[in-house]
Amino acid sequence: MQISPFILERYFAKYEFSAKYLLSSSDCEALKLPELLEMASPKMRGIWDNLQLGYTESAGHPLLREEAAKFYTGLNAENLLISAPEEGIYLLMHALLQPGDHIISTFPGYQSLYEIAGSIGCEISKWEPDEDNQWHFDLEKLTELIRPETKLVVVNFPHNPTGYIPSQKEFDRLLNLLREKDIYLFSDEMYRFLEVESDATLISACEAYEKAFSLFGMSKTFGLPGLRIGWIASQDQNILEKMLGLKDYTTICNSAPSEILSIIALQNKDSIIATQNARLKKNMVLLEAFMEKYDHIFKLNKPHGGSICFPRILGVESSFDFADQLVKEAAIMIAPSHVFDYGNQHFRLGFGRENFSEVLDKFGEYLDKKF
Ligand SMILES: Cc1ncc(COP(=O)(O)O)c(C=O)c1O
Repeated sequence: MQISPFILERYFAKYEFSAKYLLSSSDCEALKLPELLEMASPKMRGIWDNLQLGYTESAGHPLLREEAAKFYTGLNAENLLISAPEEGIYLLMHALLQPGDHIISTFPGYQSLYEIAGSIGCEISKWEPDEDNQWHFDLEKLTELIRPETKLVVVNFPHNPTGYIPSQKEFDRLLNLLREKDIYLFSDEMYRFLEVESDATLISACEAYEKAFSLFGMSKTFGLPGLRIGWIASQDQNILEKMLGLKDYTTICNSAPSEILSIIALQNKDSIIATQNARLKKNMVLLEAFMEKYDHIFKLNKPHGGSICFPRILGVESSFDFADQLVKEAAIMIAPSHVFDYGNQHFRLGFGRENFSEVLDKFGEYLDKKF
């Protein structure tokens, strides 16, 4: 299989563990192991303490599937396949797509959402948002991109990198359009429950549409990316079965400790998600004040949700050079928009971390010196 390098991941590999200040991470502040174990019920603590480190069930620990299924009305444990989130994208694309199929994906975006399809030999159309209209993804534009051979539409709301979320009404229109045209939907919901307005949480696509696959997991909303646990939920058992067969060639099964820790987190989901949202809310106030102070340098469409946003840098030739100088001169890492194959005028900024205020101060000091 020929596949292009994952530009964002390669960029992170270069700086994530060497730059002192990270200002582009998409995951919320990670929990520490003792913090999570503290939340375990006596039953789960017992399971953790006595865990044998053998292979696990390929589709995922039954209790983990059961706990994760609680996010989806009308679905149960059998409708979920547990894997690393990125692995889930890979498995789904390979289970569903054939060379020559046409897919449409929200763009810019997390590269694997379209790149894997490209490597299979599919044709890809990009559904792009309107920056001048709050990064709105227009359904009319999507409709124009649909062809007779369109097999799959890929969306990601809250959207990485812009933080855009459509209204429930618009999302319903999208689902109706795809049902009418008999097109599959892959809905990457990795940032679900991090909406700025709590009533902006969309219904999960897999609940509302029988040909939808919803991706969610522990990495972003829960701040547990090191567990490498996520899942795809769908009413389509046939495709899930196919994915399971492919998983024999990727990881076979999930990490046993990660599954137990994920169950503990899911059993405490309300408090973990509330803590992450409280931090995001606090950081959003700082972000807005920062963007106002530096509005001669940046233009931001405030995100509707998630832990990231995508400001435009005004008056610079290249956001890549800007990011390069920033990391070299001030040890602050941002992700310039070329890592999204989206020109040279934007960057991704993450605001889910505890040290956000400190990093923002350092960024401000740098800008004051430079501009
Ligand atoms: C939109 C989106 N989908 C999927 C993933 C993959 O998640 P993970 O890195 O936990 O496998 C990411 C990670 O950044 C993401 O932003």
